[in-house]
Amino acid sequence: MEVVASIISGAVVETTRLLCGSIYSTIKNIVKGPLPLHVLEKEMKFLMALRDDATKEMALDKREGKVIKAQAILWVGEVEDLHRKVNDQIQEAKSSRCFLSCSTKRYRMSRKVAKQLKEVKRLLEVGSSLASSVALSHPEFKAVEHIPGSSIQDQTTSISEDLAKTMTLVSDDKYGIIGIWGMGGVGKTYLVRNLNNELQNNSNLRFSCVLWVTVSKNLDIKMVQMRIASRLHLNLEESSGADGMAIQLYQRLKEESFLLILDDVWEKIDLDKLGVPRPEEHRGSKIILTCRSLDVCRDMVTDVEVKMMVLRDEDAWQLFSRYARDVVTSEHIRPLAEAICRECHGLPLAIVTMGAAMRGKTKPELWNHALNQLRRSVPYAAGIEEKLYKPLKWSYDSLEGRYLKNCFLYCSLFPEDFSINISELVWCWLVEGLIDERENYEDFFSRGIALIENLKDSCLLEDGSGEGTVKMHDVVRDVSIWIASTCSEDGSEFLVRSGNGLKEISTAELSNSLKRVSFMNNDLERLPDDSVIQCSEASTLLLQGNRRLDRVPARFLEGFGALRLLNISGTRIKSFPDSLLQLDNIRALLLSNCQDLEELPPLERLSRLQVLDLSLTGIRELPRGLEQLNNLRHLNLGKTRRLKVVQAGVISKLSSLEVLDLSNSCYIWKVKGAVQEKQACFEELQCLERLQVLSIRLILCYSPQDTIISWINRLKAFEVDIEWGYSHLVFQEYRRSKYINCSSLYSQYLQVPSLSPLSGAQRCVIMEGTYLSRGQVGCWLSKASYLCLSSCRGLNKMLQDLIINSVGSFLYLKKLVICDSDCSFQTGGRAAEYDLLPNLEELCLILMTCIESISELANHLGLRFQRLKTIDVISCGEMKYLLSLGNSICTIPNLEVIWVHNCSNLEELFNYLPLQNMTNLDPITPNLRKLELNDLPNLRSLCSDEKAWPGIDQVEVINCNLLRH
Ligand SMILES: *[C@@H]1O[C@H](CO)[C@@H](O)[C@H](O)[C@H]1NC(C)=O
Ligand SMILES: *[C@@H]1O[C@H](CO)[C@@H](O)[C@H](O)[C@H]1NC(C)=O
Ligand SMILES: *[C@@H]1O[C@H](CO)[C@@H](O)[C@H](O)[C@H]1NC(C)=O
Ligand SMILES: *[C@@H]1O[C@H](CO)[C@@H](O)[C@H](O)[C@H]1NC(C)=O
Repeated sequence: MEVVASIISGAVVETTRLLCGSIYSTIKNIVKGPLPLHVLEKEMKFLMALRDDATKEMALDKREGKVIKAQAILWVGEVEDLHRKVNDQIQEAKSSRCFLSCSTKRYRMSRKVAKQLKEVKRLLEVGSSLASSVALSHPEFKAVEHIPGSSIQDQTTSISEDLAKTMTLVSDDKYGIIGIWGMGGVGKTYLVRNLNNELQNNSNLRFSCVLWVTVSKNLDIKMVQMRIASRLHLNLEESSGADGMAIQLYQRLKEESFLLILDDVWEKIDLDKLGVPRPEEHRGSKIILTCRSLDVCRDMVTDVEVKMMVLRDEDAWQLFSRYARDVVTSEHIRPLAEAICRECHGLPLAIVTMGAAMRGKTKPELWNHALNQLRRSVPYAAGIEEKLYKPLKWSYDSLEGRYLKNCFLYCSLFPEDFSINISELVWCWLVEGLIDERENYEDFFSRGIALIENLKDSCLLEDGSGEGTVKMHDVVRDVSIWIASTCSEDGSEFLVRSGNGLKEISTAELSNSLKRVSFMNNDLERLPDDSVIQCSEASTLLLQGNRRLDRVPARFLEGFGALRLLNISGTRIKSFPDSLLQLDNIRALLLSNCQDLEELPPLERLSRLQVLDLSLTGIRELPRGLEQLNNLRHLNLGKTRRLKVVQAGVISKLSSLEVLDLSNSCYIWKVKGAVQEKQACFEELQCLERLQVLSIRLILCYSPQDTIISWINRLKAFEVDIEWGYSHLVFQEYRRSKYINCSSLYSQYLQVPSLSPLSGAQRCVIMEGTYLSRGQVGCWLSKASYLCLSSCRGLNKMLQDLIINSVGSFLYLKKLVICDSDCSFQTGGRAAEYDLLPNLEELCLILMTCIESISELANHLGLRFQRLKTIDVISCGEMKYLLSLGNSICTIPNLEVIWVHNCSNLEELFNYLPLQNMTNLDPITPNLRKLELNDLPNLRSLCSDEKAWPGIDQVEVINCNLLRH
């Protein structure tokens, strides 16, 4: 970006130097002398040249995912406006030359020219002040980020009151630091989360950004700094040390009027050490913190404190009955239910879990029993509020079956406030024997999901921060750890030291009574290398996320003879000692993201191994002995960028393999005959009879594809990235010449939905640099749920073939992406008689520079868009309007989101075909929620029909200068 900066500033200095004299003298003299149109013309050219350079640079920046400064966009817009005016002016002057003798008219014109010259000068100056860069160096910034909600749904009156009170404090300038305190489970996080999310909808937000950080028990200043920095898209220089980082952060935060929400604070945080300006010195900013004790508020010198009280009786009862449902109204149960509710002492967390545990129980005896159990004294658990402990322990006890209980306890191995990936969790449960391992992939997965739903219904787990994740409330986790380390059903003990910032493991803690051990996400530098280690019963050992760990000592592993699962992902280990081979019980060896790992010892002795995760490692070939692992069910070699060799005859021997992931690996599969000698060919995969999920890159050249396609179509889920053998080079060249690589530029739009049965069977086909010759696409389409055509040729012909040959609609396709592919749909040809893609939900067109409207595609394929939810159109330079409405499409009933970016010729979003009856039309997009329009310099109107979008609640319009309303 410096380049543009210097272009602009250099040019400005140059021009201002040149013009300072001349412009001003010209301006002064205009009124008398001849009209200096030529000067104006020349200067305008100069400004336009500057604009051209800047827009080019902006386009490049944009491709790199940077967000262009609004100022820069505005500047370009103004330059263009001025250009138009100047042109008109010049035209007018030229055409009316003969009238120039008329002095009033001439005078008026002179004034105009003088004004415009001034404007040129101003824009040159603005250009120079923009000089530092036209782009912000980071992707989209949101003032408030949505924090996903908990399982408590509607608010009770008490919490709403607390929320209203806190809101008032937030908008009162008197208070800089606001402390919210109260016991665990009383709803503090819930309160501030709702506050945060409500600010999101606040149209006159007084803060430039709202920052959320969950601090948790083990204060990690660096983590807090990193979190704030990443939220602000600030790159902290770790090399500058803690102080340096604090200074950097401080300077950045000084530019903002921020609201910092620190959730779950346990001890004093030194704001200076953190690098957060104190609100009393930095007006307009505020801090809210939540903590369990008033002492923390005192230590942090809060200006005002809100004590969160337990729920009032009527609120408590209302919440309890919401979770326990209608049974509580029965006359035999109601008194017992009320008594149980009272045992929860007004704590929402206790009420909710207790209510959920009693849900649907219709026998009064059960209620009576629960009440007695609750009232019976229980051992005191350190660190857990006793009031909470009883109901939570009761909920745990009432989980049905040992498996469910153990699955629940297993979740406490993960750090506090950690979102656990459901798909990974289920694999852990499987190899731990908590799910029947005889079931096949699909079945055990559904079982896993059912168990998770069961735990969520019991309010013992909640949704995590990303889709497909779950987490535990910190108090629930405390109880769970307490149970797991003292009184779990099968006498197994846990040692949970995850996310504690530990630098080393104390051997004294490791003992033979331990069943599961977690040291994940610490700062361990080395592991004890000691024959004293005796953990001979432990089945799970979690060591992942210790970024500095670079060695696994031989004697350390020897102490863990019974391991079933070892996760050491995300460390710097380079190799394994041979003692790994003594772990003959091991079922899951997880080494993802160990980028320095290039080699493993021969694995043949680990014959029970079911899961081997080598994704993102540095391996160059498959580990020796792999072919003998005939229990292996899941082999993950995704993103192995150095894996060049897959020896023939290895993969085909893995007869139990159900999931094989080689997505984005360096290894590209080819058919027999096309592969190099001794390398595995595609036909080997076809030997894997139990395979259900497959991700590969594949080159198909001159090979009969029908059998390949129909074999792949039989799988439950797949992601196949097809590159074309023979045209490969041609297209490489083509792409290079166009300086385009769709998949890297537009990765966010091309995102392949993740391959897991969680989201239904995903069948993704990506074709890159391909001649779309006859037939193929139709075969893929018969099963694919996602199709991406990137830099392909022959689209027209392909569509024609599809229309002529298709015998029915393609029912599975939900997402279609077409990127940088040639086509012109206007040339007539046959159109489909029915909707070929009736279930399409997302349509994305990128760099399709030859189509004028989506209607061209829609008409060809007979599309009606009845299920369409999202339209994305990016950089389609010739597009004039999105869609014409008429006979076949009058409304898009389910459309929720429209995104249109950088289409220089777009004039209107929706237009009506001529001769259409425009009275009494239904809204075009009755369910549109979000409309984002960006860089559409010719967009004049959205649609002539004003009723088009009744329900819209988010509109973002950037750089669409002609748009009126
Ligand atoms: C904010 O707006 C969104 C979208 O309309 C809505 O779903 C959400 O409930 C609102 N949140 C609050 C706290 O009002
Ligand atoms: C192993 O740890 C890594 C890093 O935290 C994680 O991404 C992965 O999901 C874990 N694997 C399993 C099966 O739990
Ligand atoms: C969970 O893990 C699976 C397998 O590693 C991955 O494909 C998926 O994207 C992950 N999901 C989330 C939400 O991170
Ligand atoms: C247009 O619609 C109106 C009202 O529905 C109807 O009376 C009129 O005949 C229609 N005109 C045409 C040309 O279809």
